[in-house]
Amino acid sequence: MADNRHECIVVLDFGAQYSQLIARRVRELGVYSQILPFNATPEEILATGPVKGIIFSGGPASVPQEGSPRPDYRVFSMGLPIFGICYGLQVMSQMLGGQVECPEHKEYGIANIDIIAKSPLFEGVSRNSQVWMSHGDRVAMMPEGFTVTAQTPSCPYTAIEDRKRDFYGVQFHPEVVHSLEGQKMLGNFVLNICHAKADWNMGSFIDEAVEAIRAEVGDRNVLCGLSGGVDSSVAAVLIHKAIGDQLVCVFVNNGMLRKGEAESVLELFGKNFNMRLQYADAEEAFLSALKGKTDPEDKRKTIGKLFVDTFYSEARKCGDISYLAQGTLYPDIVESRSPFGGPTSTIKSHHNVGGLPEDLKWKLLEPLKDLFKDEVRALGRELGLPEELVDRHPFPGPGLGVRCIGEVTKERLDSLREIDAIFIDEIRKAGLYGHIWQALADLLPVKSVGVQGDERTYREVCTLRAVTSADAMTADWYRMPYDVMQKCASRICNEVGAVNRVLYDITSKPPATIEWE
Ligand code: XMP
Repeated sequence: MADNRHECIVVLDFGAQYSQLIARRVRELGVYSQILPFNATPEEILATGPVKGIIFSGGPASVPQEGSPRPDYRVFSMGLPIFGICYGLQVMSQMLGGQVECPEHKEYGIANIDIIAKSPLFEGVSRNSQVWMSHGDRVAMMPEGFTVTAQTPSCPYTAIEDRKRDFYGVQFHPEVVHSLEGQKMLGNFVLNICHAKADWNMGSFIDEAVEAIRAEVGDRNVLCGLSGGVDSSVAAVLIHKAIGDQLVCVFVNNGMLRKGEAESVLELFGKNFNMRLQYADAEEAFLSALKGKTDPEDKRKTIGKLFVDTFYSEARKCGDISYLAQGTLYPDIVESRSPFGGPTSTIKSHHNVGGLPEDLKWKLLEPLKDLFKDEVRALGRELGLPEELVDRHPFPGPGLGVRCIGEVTKERLDSLREIDAIFIDEIRKAGLYGHIWQALADLLPVKSVGVQGDERTYREVCTLRAVTSADAMTADWYRMPYDVMQKCASRICNEVGAVNRVLYDITSKPPATIEWE
């Protein structure tokens, strides 16, 4: 039977922080790419689809060190082109009979290579191209059959190749932006050397995903918890496209949503997309459960438990359900199965509806599990979701509850909703929303003296926080332009009666976290 899956480039992961970036760069070329553990067998590699080439990622280990990761030797006889990057180059050199050394002079950061021989890898690349180096070790002796194609003053074997076997290796990282022509080099490998077909795009993904969902689900029903966030929204719309009314979405309004959020979810999914929507207005239940609670963990646990209870009791009203849809993404899957032990579990916390009760026996449906976040956004656009939803910042499951520091009351939440809306509005108006990972406002359990008109006031204090980040594991505070901060402070004090002082949070993570609670 013909294999109609996409031609694929496999990235073997030697533990580099950049492995996922390599796969993304390959997909940006329009070619499907999958990451496998460094020790994947040839059978496992071929099981991913019609594989056209293999990339060895970088990694933090040192090849001469005992126990450093090695690929299965048989990958060198699969007849596939191989591209070794940094550690990948070194491990390939060592295993094929060359030598790797740990020199005294190590090379990190930006460098200019000198391309000294014609190579298909460097087709169209300028001779002194700028690259990003980040490794201590280097090749000291090339394996037999290899020739050198680029060097730097401190690294004589910056790029080597065996054109007969189509094995290539570079000491630098073509996948990072500081390697100015790195994407050109990856393109040369993937498209010209491996001859992979560039047919990976969101249009073809939708057709295949719709077919796969129909085949899996048949005439059974799927439940999806909508949170208003990007992943669950895109998953829901994709599944809806496949099975229409066999999908039922549950949306729990916990009273801690952003301004207008519940209305816009109902409007968009219920009216525009015409989905079956089970809506639970549980605001009062959440507020009364939180009454008098100020401890952050206590608040989180209370919100989490009540969410699970509400979600299941709504689910029971939805008839006979066989699947629970989740917006799990590719990075969650890769990290959880990495031989280096990734930090993430396969089920994300705000989608994670706890251990399933006995009477609900659902299978998981995870239609986004092959996609990176930026691909999910592209998919959302392709499916017709509005831009304000598709480019949305992350928002925590417990919502404004963990941003209302101290006791959570309806009045304080209403103030916070206004503050948050003003902050986001000003950031969007200034064209900064897309530069920021996450922007949030917190209401503090502190009052301060102010003066408005001729009157002395004694009102609450709020903080604004905006951070840049790649993955929320670490974050830096965003250097917000003064005029934007000024507009926010002035609007908040004028428009939100309960507040007379606005602070801007300038702490990175670590030592602080992104959320205050
Ligand atoms: P912290 O505050 O730990 O947050 O630096 C890291 C990222 O996780 C988000 N966050 C949550 N997301 N459920 C979620 O879905 C939660 O309970 C939760 N708590 C924090 C936070 O907004 C940031 O993006």
